[in-house]
Amino acid sequence: MTMDFTDRVSRVEPSATLAISALSKELTAEGKDVIDLSVGEPDFPTPENIVEAAKDAMDAGHTGYASAKGVPALKEAVAEKLAEDGLEYGPENVIVTPGAKQALYEVVQSLIQEGDEVVLLDPAWVSYEAMVKLAGGSLSRVDLSPYDFQLEPALDDLADAVSDETELLIVNSPSNPTGAVYTDAALEGVRDLAVEHDVTVISDEIYKEITYGVEPTSLGTLEGMADRTVTVNGFSKAYSMTGWRLGYFAGPEDLVAEAGKLHSHSVSSAVNFVQHAGVEALANTDAAVAEMVEAFEGRRDLVVDLLAEEGVEVAVPDGAFYMMLPVADDDQAWCEGALEDAHVATVPGSAFGTPGYARISYAASEERLREGVERLADAGYF
Ligand SMILES: Cc1ncc(COP(=O)(O)O)c(C=O)c1O
Repeated sequence: MTMDFTDRVSRVEPSATLAISALSKELTAEGKDVIDLSVGEPDFPTPENIVEAAKDAMDAGHTGYASAKGVPALKEAVAEKLAEDGLEYGPENVIVTPGAKQALYEVVQSLIQEGDEVVLLDPAWVSYEAMVKLAGGSLSRVDLSPYDFQLEPALDDLADAVSDETELLIVNSPSNPTGAVYTDAALEGVRDLAVEHDVTVISDEIYKEITYGVEPTSLGTLEGMADRTVTVNGFSKAYSMTGWRLGYFAGPEDLVAEAGKLHSHSVSSAVNFVQHAGVEALANTDAAVAEMVEAFEGRRDLVVDLLAEEGVEVAVPDGAFYMMLPVADDDQAWCEGALEDAHVATVPGSAFGTPGYARISYAASEERLREGVERLADAGYF
């Protein structure tokens, strides 16, 4: 029998990163020592207090279904954390999800239907495009690469892309894959366009806690943005909890009601005892987070210096743990070659909508980062 698949799934391409990851696995299986700079996850263990809190929660019997939108203690803790960022949300504005990815999926599914236009800032995290396509939306993309990945100098380009036809704009600062943190003037520019054209904005703030010497502003704090912003965040990156699958979004109550239907009919809830560990993460982990951020900053500086020694100049990121390396026009071939010849895994910029670059993640030890750059140089990739 041949199954009939929906237009919905057929519209979505397999991830361009899969080719690299398949090749990387193949080489590792052959016994090759692959330096994997392609992964989007911190290399630190989850802080011990969070692990203990999860164990305690299991012992205390928090192993059944949780309230669909999140356990009250976590929704309150999230609202408090957002209030510290200047955002006025109550627990009733929050849905706790299994990962920020699910939060984004629910929001996009609730806001976008066939033919709706969504604006992305390129390079953009790979799943935004897929989520919009699954919902039937069309994409309008603004290329930030001519501006060192900053948004402020690209505001005229953004103004050309946003119109009364635009339904949604997705902003991710600090950004994956560039590490750029957008200035307040850039965010004010976004606000002006969003208000003028009555556009909803998703502010994906999953890297907000990982910055170096800058304080990113939350879009929803700007005047005129409270009722048109959906703030997304999660525990994967700041608390090194990628496998726990815990995230959330906060937005106007009518969105929470609509997205809540999708949430309850799909995932039911985020894992009960994991949510209790999330309360501990928000309450008592600031020192451990600061330590990880300090380590990331040291690695960023190291990689920027090592690349400069090889004559490679990058836009220095102020946040997250990624940077974009200018490489050959055929970035896919460059990345495949770098993996085959130097056994260093990176992600082609075209996966994020910006060919000619490779994304490296510096969530790896200094020793591996040093060796990675050295191998790429020795194999003639710079
Ligand atoms: C920009 C961005 N948003 C959202 C996510 C989703 O994170 P998670 O589902 O692990 O919370 C990621 C993960 O890589 C990301 O880079």
